[in-house]
Amino acid sequence: MKIAFFDSGIGGLSVLHHAMKVLPHEQFIFFADEDNVPYGTKTTEQVFQYVSDAFSFLMTKDVKAIVVACNTATSVAVRELRHQYKIPIIGMEPAAKKALDMDTERNRVLVIATPITVRGHKIKELIEKYDTESLVDLLAMPDLVEFAEHMDFSSPAVEDYIRRQFAPYDFSKYANLVLGCTHFNYFKETLRRILPDHVRFVDGNEGTIRELIRQLDYRKGLEYLPQTVEYYYSGKAVTEPHELQRIDAYLDQLERVYTII
Ligand code: SIN
Repeated sequence: MKIAFFDSGIGGLSVLHHAMKVLPHEQFIFFADEDNVPYGTKTTEQVFQYVSDAFSFLMTKDVKAIVVACNTATSVAVRELRHQYKIPIIGMEPAAKKALDMDTERNRVLVIATPITVRGHKIKELIEKYDTESLVDLLAMPDLVEFAEHMDFSSPAVEDYIRRQFAPYDFSKYANLVLGCTHFNYFKETLRRILPDHVRFVDGNEGTIRELIRQLDYRKGLEYLPQTVEYYYSGKAVTEPHELQRIDAYLDQLERVYTII
């Protein structure tokens, strides 16, 4: 049986890319809801409906687990979906706790994410539980999702947008920038150029895949098969060469930024 990865768009490829490295004998399905991306600027009702529709489709593929490789969809829908389906459903955690744990000097943490994630109950609960010294700040950066979908990771427009959003922050006070949206990993080169060297990037990808392995291993659900990936855009199989080349170009960018910290 296969493991499905679901995202509003191509951000979830960053989570799949990590899974492909650490699970070389699994078979994957990747579902990008390209008809409805971006999610982060829609209503929670709309996002819930999109995610439910995607899950109905994925369940016809006889998958053994679904990774919701989208912070926005996780924030809106994962709790309800876990009640509805019996298979493991692994969501994204904005890695604010990881960032707080990593920094013994108690510097500030900036979490960048979509507007829905920033307003959502999940991040609020996380902050209430772990941010006992009020060190975490939240910043919505929805335009990065659009730039990523247009495969623009480093143009002057991208750089200008990031600089404008970061202008109010004094980064000498921050040790970690949490990438709270899976679309944001593509921008690590540009973010590295803009931010002072001491600011480190933290994302939830590794923790999500660790949790996937834990849940499958616990259920004795890991395989030893040749690795394959099937791609779907909003329920339609991606087969056109130009569409597959687009996905390869995203995976190339992820490979380029993989080791940037
Ligand atoms: C979006 O579709 O707005 C981005 C979703 C996410 O990864 O949070």
